[in-house]
Amino acid sequence: MAWLKGGEVLCSTPPSKLARRVWRLVLLGAPGVGKGTQAELLSERLGACQLSTGDVFRAAKCLAEGERSPALEAAMHYMVRGELVPDDTVLGIIRERTRCLRCCGGFLLDGFPRTVAQAEALEALLKKEKVPLTAVLNYELPIDQIVARLSGRRTCSKCKAVFHMANKPPRVKDICDHCGGQLIQREDDRPESVRVRMAAYEKSTRPLTDFYKKRGLLVTIKAEGSPEEIYQRTQMVLERFN
Ligand code: AP5
Repeated sequence: MAWLKGGEVLCSTPPSKLARRVWRLVLLGAPGVGKGTQAELLSERLGACQLSTGDVFRAAKCLAEGERSPALEAAMHYMVRGELVPDDTVLGIIRERTRCLRCCGGFLLDGFPRTVAQAEALEALLKKEKVPLTAVLNYELPIDQIVARLSGRRTCSKCKAVFHMANKPPRVKDICDHCGGQLIQREDDRPESVRVRMAAYEKSTRPLTDFYKKRGLLVTIKAEGSPEEIYQRTQMVLERFN
């Protein structure tokens, strides 16, 4: 809640002080590769919160029009088209949420940074806060499998739970298993927006793999197989940092 709303909103899930290790991870990868799915599993098992910039923009959609800042309003239009939101807007949102980066439970950054400028700003912010990154997990998957994951994704319009028509179908067609809400297709999962998102990834986000490789933080993980198989691969990689 503190991440989604920003500002002085209090955290509804304070971290356990008993965690054996504090993880501060960035999840990188193309749209639809499964970052959100892995972030959920990692969060349950490592105790760190999933901090998704995409979720912040989607949550803003639920606010009344007068409650959205002009920057957030503009961000939503970029997002529907599949374009990246400008760095200044994204960085403003991150700075308002610096408390989540300082959290003693660690963090899992999902969808941020997405450009070299964002990565440099994050590096400076974390240095100032004296909270170093543990590692950057770079998920890779062939494009045909990415397209299949994106085109089959359905999201609950109420609780935002994520399903997949073939790989993770709900018990009742188009109805959320958790809250009974209607399942919908994300506006930016339509083919015309997916093409723009893929191009933005290739141009602006893929160069981050070199950025983090140079810093000795990058680990690349095959995102093929079931979510649990990918999680097991991730866990093996994380043992190096334990
Ligand atoms: P964001 O919400 O971050 O979207 P994304 O990066 O495009 O990633 P997705 O949420 O589409 O996919 P995912 O990798 O999380 O996959 P998922 O786990 O859901 O960003 C959206 C937009 O916001 C951007 O386009 C941009 O406009 C804006 N934005 C956000 N951050 C920004 C930033 N920092 N700078 C600028 N703009 C920003 O899985 C996909 C599907 O596959 C699901 O249905 C799932 O059930 C299924 N699935 C997952 N894993 C598996 C598996 N192993 N096997 C089979 N199916 C699987």
